[in-house]
Amino acid sequence: MPSMVVVGGFFGDEGKGKIVSYLAVKDNPVIAVRGGVGPNAGHTIEHNNKKYKVRMLPSAFLNPNTRLLVGPGVVVSPDVLLKEISEFEVGDRAFVDYNCGIIEESHKIADSQGRLKESIGSTGTGTGPANADRAMRTLKLAKDVESLALYLDDIPNAVNFALERKEKVLVEGTQGTFLSLWHGTYPYVTSKDVTASGICADVGIGPKNVDDVVVVFKSFVTRVGEGPLRNEITAQQATAKGWQEVGTVTGRQRRAAEFDFELARRAIMLNSASQIAITKLDVVYPECAHMQSFSDLSSPAKYFIKTIEDQLKIPVTLIGTGPEVNDIIDRREE
Ligand code: GTP
Ligand code: IMP
Ligand code: MG
Repeated sequence: MPSMVVVGGFFGDEGKGKIVSYLAVKDNPVIAVRGGVGPNAGHTIEHNNKKYKVRMLPSAFLNPNTRLLVGPGVVVSPDVLLKEISEFEVGDRAFVDYNCGIIEESHKIADSQGRLKESIGSTGTGTGPANADRAMRTLKLAKDVESLALYLDDIPNAVNFALERKEKVLVEGTQGTFLSLWHGTYPYVTSKDVTASGICADVGIGPKNVDDVVVVFKSFVTRVGEGPLRNEITAQQATAKGWQEVGTVTGRQRRAAEFDFELARRAIMLNSASQIAITKLDVVYPECAHMQSFSDLSSPAKYFIKTIEDQLKIPVTLIGTGPEVNDIIDRREE
């Protein structure tokens, strides 16, 4: 901090939402700003026995002091956004940029059929076709949508004003490094760059204004939709290990593989990571569930974390030990 960027290191669904919500509560940023593609992302956050699903707003809404912003690079589905604003009761502190692109019905239809759906396995939320229209310069923008009038702001200006005053800004990425349009497993990727540089461009933060980049990895790799997944295990094997997961947005079964050090190394390079967050340690090492102190971890779990640090040469500062926001080991002040 003051500016910390959180991005996914594999194929999305690493648990960025949970990490961002913890950081929002713990570090009390004045702003949390979302970059990334759009409502194709889905974060699940659990806190005080409640489960929240978020697709448009930053996952930082649990902290009532934090303003929730969406950068101009993100395509917005007005119905999804308005529903979240009302559900989380954040109408006084949620804003989207005037220049956010708007997803219309025609984009969702185009995304739910044909090549995108069948061969790429797109989420059907309309983000790809909307970004194609943006490139064609025909996409409607948020400033032209009446229902969003109350929630419009100049987001790059708000973010940079806060940074000038040395206030904390948390930048939330979505998807994961290998779903990036430039750096991923093309054509089995999403419709934009989702590495830290792309996320910063989405919200209007220049390279000199980034203090920390946290790359989030799950303790194993998952992928939803089509495309290569090295060392993929069968659904049966995943179930036997307790690794089976279902997608937040589409309800599809996520494919699974062991933690991939080679991919992780490349993600560290592409994102210029300064810190690593590891989620779901409790799924691979059940004896570590809910732990909040590194010294309490079992020897195999400690060895796994140490191997990651040895191989990737970046400190593992945050470790998820359960789905609840407070199921986390925070080693930043050790
Ligand atoms: P995208 O932006 O769509 O890429 O999603 P995401 O990175 O926010 O992840 P998502 O919420 O889709 O998936 C992560 C899942 O793991 C959620 O169900 C979380 O509740 C859960 N989760 C996150 N961290 C942990 C953890 O440390 N342990 C356990 N058991 N579950 C976790
Ligand atoms: P699209 O982004 O909906 O066009 O989907 C393209 C590919 O990216 C598909 O394989 C999707 O399953 C995947 N994808 C897009 N967003 C996410 C996400 O947030 N988490 C995981 N996979 C995603
Ligand atoms: Mg997700």
